[in-house]
Amino acid sequence: MKSYDIATIEGDGIGPEVCQSAVAVLKEACGSELLRFEAFDGGAAHYARTGAVLPEDTFAACKSMHAMLHGAAGLPGVTYADGTEVGNDLHLQLRFRLDLFANVRPIRLYAGAESPLKGWQPGQIDYVIVRENTEGLYASRGGGINLRGEVSTDTLVMTRKGVERVARFSFDLARRRKGAPRDGKRRVTVCDKANILRSYAFFRAICDEVAAGYDDVEIDYAYADAITVHMLKKPDFYDVIVAENMFGDIISDLGAGTVGGLGIAASAELGERHGLFQGAHGSAPDIAGRNLASPIATILSGALMLRWLGEQHADPALLAAADRVEQAVEAVLAEGATVPRDLGGSASCTDMTEAICRRLR
Ligand code: IPM
Ligand code: MN
Repeated sequence: MKSYDIATIEGDGIGPEVCQSAVAVLKEACGSELLRFEAFDGGAAHYARTGAVLPEDTFAACKSMHAMLHGAAGLPGVTYADGTEVGNDLHLQLRFRLDLFANVRPIRLYAGAESPLKGWQPGQIDYVIVRENTEGLYASRGGGINLRGEVSTDTLVMTRKGVERVARFSFDLARRRKGAPRDGKRRVTVCDKANILRSYAFFRAICDEVAAGYDDVEIDYAYADAITVHMLKKPDFYDVIVAENMFGDIISDLGAGTVGGLGIAASAELGERHGLFQGAHGSAPDIAGRNLASPIATILSGALMLRWLGEQHADPALLAAADRVEQAVEAVLAEGATVPRDLGGSASCTDMTEAICRRLR
């Protein structure tokens, strides 16, 4: 049986507990042979001790191993001289140095997770936001201008290669899904502000070029302001949404909010050969180390990792394990006896982990 080496970076705050929970669940789902986990340092606390937020040995492992599973990074007060947060630099260095160009954020209403939107049932909200992850407004991070403390600018960068590959990724993803809940149509919605800025008109034009090769997938457009209303009023219309980096960052949190919050929001940051899997939440230092955090987002990110590895390596055992992990999470939430605090329950991190492991057994 093939085995896969996974680099784990537990990180800061609740990172260690949610990462350890996900590892326990993945081991339960896959057995001890299929996945081999190895922990590496990284994050704001490590930076405070050593001056390195992402040590070279950690980066080398992330580059050479099959996948990365991360808890969370960032601690209040641990910042660089320019005021930016150190913890964020861990994600950003991995994204840019490993060219993880597609940040995949599923937005799905699970049974047992209350949506703040009235009248929507599990199955009716099930779409994926694909956020371009290596350029857009983030291309200027660390490169913006601050002139005499009077003028400051950041530049939004769009490249043909960058837009083409994230658009193609999105259309291929729509091809693999079963369409939007509302009408079963395979659809890619391009989220931009093409009506105002040339860079977004460029983004849209390249998405149109890519769409020409997918006559089985419908292309749809929504301005970034308008889509925030549509995501609340007609969430069942969406199948795949593709957006520039900064817009994707913003609408993915809104989407997570419509299905229960960041505690249930998984993410997969994918390049040609590398994948970083982590919950979309932060390090929540206020509840760190108290067994209060929900591990669901990291566990579901682990399921995304199994599915991605299964597709990358044509390994049906991984694909089956991914389904089992997602089904176990949904079954535990639907049963209602063990629900995390952010979804209205009182279950601890350990309670959630053990309930999902029991379900898997
Ligand atoms: C996210 C986060 C990151 C981002 C931060 C932590 C760097 O908000 O992954 O959504 O801004 O992309
Ligand atoms: Mn964000």
